Amino acid sequence: MISDLKEEDIEQVILISDKMVGESFQTPDSIKKYITDKHKILKVYKFNGEIIGFVKGKIIGKSTFKDTLLKTNSVIKTVLMGEGNMGLAETICVKNKFRGTGIAQELADDLIGSLKQVEPIDIICSTLWKAGGVANARRIVENIGFKMITEIEDYWYKDSIVKDYICPSCGKPPCKCSMIFYRLEIPLNGIPGMCESDYPPLWER
Ligand SMILES: CC(C)(COP(=O)(O)OP(=O)(O)OC[C@H]1O[C@@H](n2cnc3c(N)ncnc32)[C@H](O)[C@@H]1OP(=O)(O)O)[C@@H](O)C(=O)NCCC(=O)NCCS
Ligand SMILES: [Zn+2]
Repeated sequence: MISDLKEEDIEQVILISDKMVGESFQTPDSIKKYITDKHKILKVYKFNGEIIGFVKGKIIGKSTFKDTLLKTNSVIKTVLMGEGNMGLAETICVKNKFRGTGIAQELADDLIGSLKQVEPIDIICSTLWKAGGVANARRIVENIGFKMITEIEDYWYKDSIVKDYICPSCGKPPCKCSMIFYRLEIPLNGIPGMCESDYPPLWER
C-alpha cells in the first residue's frame, strides 16, 4: 500500500536509503521537509506495517535546480532554459527481497501523478544513478515516457568527498558513478503546441 510519509516512518526510510543509495545521502532533517512542504513528495510502500520501499520528488524552480546540479553541460542547460517550476523525480528504493514485482514502478507512477497535481508543470526531470555500468531505474522511467538526454561521468565525485558518503557501488569516496539525465515532457493543459517538443530536438541545436 502506498501512503504519504509520516514522522514515524523517517527512521525506516533513512535505513533503506543508507543501504541502497549511499550512507548519509539523506538525513532526518532533509527528509522531514517532505512532510511539511507541499512542494515535496515522499511516498512509502508498506507491507504488513513494514516500509519496503519509497520514492521522493519535488517541485523546484528550473533555475534553482540548474544551480543545485553538481555537474552540468550545455545540453542540460538548454533543457532547463526559461523560468518557472518543474518536477524532479529524485530517489527510488525497494528492499532487496521485494524487488522484481513492480513495486518500484507503482511508486514511480504514483510520484509522477502526484507531482502533476501540485501545480501545472511542463517537464519532470530525473538524474539517474548509474553504477558499474547499470542504471537500475532506467526501465522504470522509460516505462513512464521519460527520454534520456545526456550522461555525465563522475557526477558525485567531489560531492562524495565533501559529504563523505559511502557509495554502495564504489565504497569510500570518491564515487565514480555516472548520472544519466532524463526528461519527461508534459503538454500544458493537454493543448497541442504547448510543450517543449515543439522545439527542434536537442541534437539539432
Ligand atoms: C531500482 C529499484 C527501485 C527497482 O525496484 P523493483 O521493485 O525491483 O522494480 P520493479 O519490479 O517495479 O521493476 C520496474 C521495471 O524496472 C526493471 N528493473 C528493475 N530493477 C532493475 C535493475 N536492477 N536493472 C535494470 N532494470 C531493472 C524491471 O524489469 C521493470 O521493467 P519492465 O516492466 O519493463 O520489465 C531497486 O532495484 C532498488 O531499490 N535499487 C537500489 C536503489 C537504486 O538503484 N535506485 C535508483 C536510483 S536512481
Ligand atoms: Zn559510486
